Amino acid sequence: MTKHLITSALPYINGTKHLGNLVGSMLPADIYARYLRQKGEQVLFICGTDEHGTPAELAALKNNMAVGEYCEKMYQKQNEIYEKLGISFDYFGRTSSQQNKILTQHIANALYEKGYIYEGTVKQFYSIDDDLYLPDRYVEGECPHCGYENARGDQCENCTKLLDPEDLVKPRSAISGSENLELRESKHLFLSLKKMEGKLRTWIETKEEWSPLVKSIALKWLNEGLQDRCITRDLKWGVPVDRPGYEGKVYYVWFDAPIGYISITKEWSDQAPEERNWEDYWKDDKDVEYTQFMAKDNVPFHTISFPATLMAAEENWKLVDNLKGFNWLTYYGGKFSTSQGRGIFTDQALEIMPTDYWRYYLIARAPEGSDSSFTWEDFQQVCNKDLADVLGNFVNRLYKFSQKKYNGEVPNVSKWDEAENNLCQQLDKHLKAFDKHMSDREYRKSAQELRQIWSLGNVYIAEEAPWSNPDRMDIIIRTSFNLLGLIARLSNSFLPDTSFIIGKSLNIKSSESWTNAEEEIKNNKISTFKQLDDVLFRKIEDAEVESWKDKFGC
Ligand code: MF3
Ligand code: ZN
Repeated sequence: MTKHLITSALPYINGTKHLGNLVGSMLPADIYARYLRQKGEQVLFICGTDEHGTPAELAALKNNMAVGEYCEKMYQKQNEIYEKLGISFDYFGRTSSQQNKILTQHIANALYEKGYIYEGTVKQFYSIDDDLYLPDRYVEGECPHCGYENARGDQCENCTKLLDPEDLVKPRSAISGSENLELRESKHLFLSLKKMEGKLRTWIETKEEWSPLVKSIALKWLNEGLQDRCITRDLKWGVPVDRPGYEGKVYYVWFDAPIGYISITKEWSDQAPEERNWEDYWKDDKDVEYTQFMAKDNVPFHTISFPATLMAAEENWKLVDNLKGFNWLTYYGGKFSTSQGRGIFTDQALEIMPTDYWRYYLIARAPEGSDSSFTWEDFQQVCNKDLADVLGNFVNRLYKFSQKKYNGEVPNVSKWDEAENNLCQQLDKHLKAFDKHMSDREYRKSAQELRQIWSLGNVYIAEEAPWSNPDRMDIIIRTSFNLLGLIARLSNSFLPDTSFIIGKSLNIKSSESWTNAEEEIKNNKISTFKQLDDVLFRKIEDAEVESWKDKFGC
């Protein structure tokens, strides 16, 4: 049986993640994992924190903590938030682990032996006032191409050209602003990406199912010609380079982070070595389908440098099969920004509304074809319309009426009429479409189909009006509960908490799979229902929207 390996881009350790991070990787990965599990597939869903690099060191410094201690704390915090968001990782690990250190060094040494790593020297700015080598993006200055004054040493945000820090006019430290910089020479390791160009191209060309977004980014990089990359840094915090003459240097964070996917799988299997074997997922392609989720800025690393690393090591590492990339979620058309505190962070979001509102809204607005814009007004509208007015309304009507008339017992019936046949026909169409979009990882379309199915329930009960149709009352109530049982299972990956609540009330398992429309609708499997404790979805008031806009700015 095919095993499904699913990874979501590993979130940086520093800072809490915002909603844009969530919708661009972890949430869709979770929905896919839940969907496949529900279909009876074998799934391993892996993620963890990306802990190395200068940003973590600086964040620790700012918080007056040792970097190890800071990472430990932030790891716990992130882990907790993802749990609250219902992200069903099989394992959430860390790139600062012993496993990652060993594996990163192992792969680097394999590359060295096979002739894909060579030594060279790099000129790097040393900031005398900060007492540290400045990573490229911590050097700022004027862009030599467009004159933009706040260009970063790796890239100009204004004209998007890739830069080297030395290209900048009047370079300064982004940490202190100091212009007291010295260009120093230091020995480093380089990965021969150029040598891998042909193999990468052949491999990428077989990826017919990759979306245009992903493929165009990968091909753009290839067509511009690959540059060899320096994969080590003069830093303390990271995986140490285990090579004489490289004391005090570590591997570049983008070298060890994706290796984290493998080493975190090993962390997972080290927890129960008798039952789990990480190599079943990563070595020799033992019937594994590997799907990665990420935002578009991560695509080059996952289509070029990481696969090149794995291929060049010549150890039969598993390469990605499906790569789902996302555009940006913006905040009122502007960038979400951790550093500028613009937008909404995942922990704040959970203080405002429960998990399922966020999951549904974000996935209904997933930035798949293009960027999409978060606004509080849109959040209110989508939640009120789809969740409260459609799904919530169907459930409320059904329970309210049935409680009075049926007192917790769902009637058994053996006959169905024209209205139920129609319902089955429509349901059949949407069920098939939902299934197809879910397995194609098309989230907006899946959400639309799901909503259509909720709406079928709402329209059915309104049109059939059991309250004024005594002859057909049993049939209508029976059919509605059947449909609701199906809805609970279909909604499981989107709205896990709600789905669980409905399932519990109907005494069914919301994580079970479903069959076809006829079988789902024309059966007598659900026998009882318990009143729900609360309304399923409350409406978001205008005054709340105003207060959130005040609080978060827009
Ligand atoms: N930490 C990166 C980010 O948040 C993603 C790293 S993905 C990995 O953009 F493959 F390197 F792990
Ligand atoms: Zn520029």
